[in-house]
Amino acid sequence: MKTIIISGTPGTGKTSVSKLILKALNAKLITLNELVIKEGLILGYDEIRETSIINKRKILRRIKSLISQYKKDTIKYLIIESHFSDIIPNRYIDYAIVLRCDPDELFKRLEKRGYRKEKIIENVQSEILGNCANYIINKGLKKPVLEIDTSCKKVEDIAKIVVDLIVLRIDSRGYEIGKIDWLEKLYYKNRLKEYFD
Ligand SMILES: Nc1ncnc2c1ncn2[C@@H]1O[C@H](COP(=O)(O)OP(=O)(O)OP(=O)(O)O)[C@@H](O)[C@H]1O
Ligand SMILES: [Mg+2]
Repeated sequence: MKTIIISGTPGTGKTSVSKLILKALNAKLITLNELVIKEGLILGYDEIRETSIINKRKILRRIKSLISQYKKDTIKYLIIESHFSDIIPNRYIDYAIVLRCDPDELFKRLEKRGYRKEKIIENVQSEILGNCANYIINKGLKKPVLEIDTSCKKVEDIAKIVVDLIVLRIDSRGYEIGKIDWLEKLYYKNRLKEYFD
């Protein structure tokens, strides 16, 4: 079984894209956020950040058991997606993909979702700083670690890129992680103050 982890700031399209990859690869999909809520794998709730505090130990135990079940069932591909999918131990990962999004586009997507202004800014700041990408980079994986700019791409096209990278093994050089730098882009346009006070 090949396991693909998909990470990225909320709103970059992980769930939308994963659902399409799931169909194309006839894969299993674990949306960590859903699993955590459904099975109560949390330690509590952070009122200020309006987010659940995950119970990493319980999540990993559950993931381990799901993975061994899927292996027994001879499942070919497993997708694990979440903005915290970096918690998955390296030994289970065959591909890591981080979805990225231009800050202005991400702002619009999160606004459409009805997020509060503070929550939108917090997430956009996180994307500008490349937090999810950095967490994945810092794992030091010896497997392909890629990033895809989703800003001007349709969900279908992003899913196709992922499938082509994995199944057709197309040239991944254009997707190697570390090339996207929103911080630099905003800095040179003198626009950083729009997102950071
Ligand atoms: N490539 C895209 N182009 C335009 N809109 C998109 C794209 N990808 C996702 N969206 C829209 O952005 C919103 C967030 O998408 P999605 O729920 O897939 O993100 P996510 O990364 O799974 O977020 P979360 O981490 O909160 O679960 C949805 O309204 C979706 O329709
Ligand atoms: Mg999602």
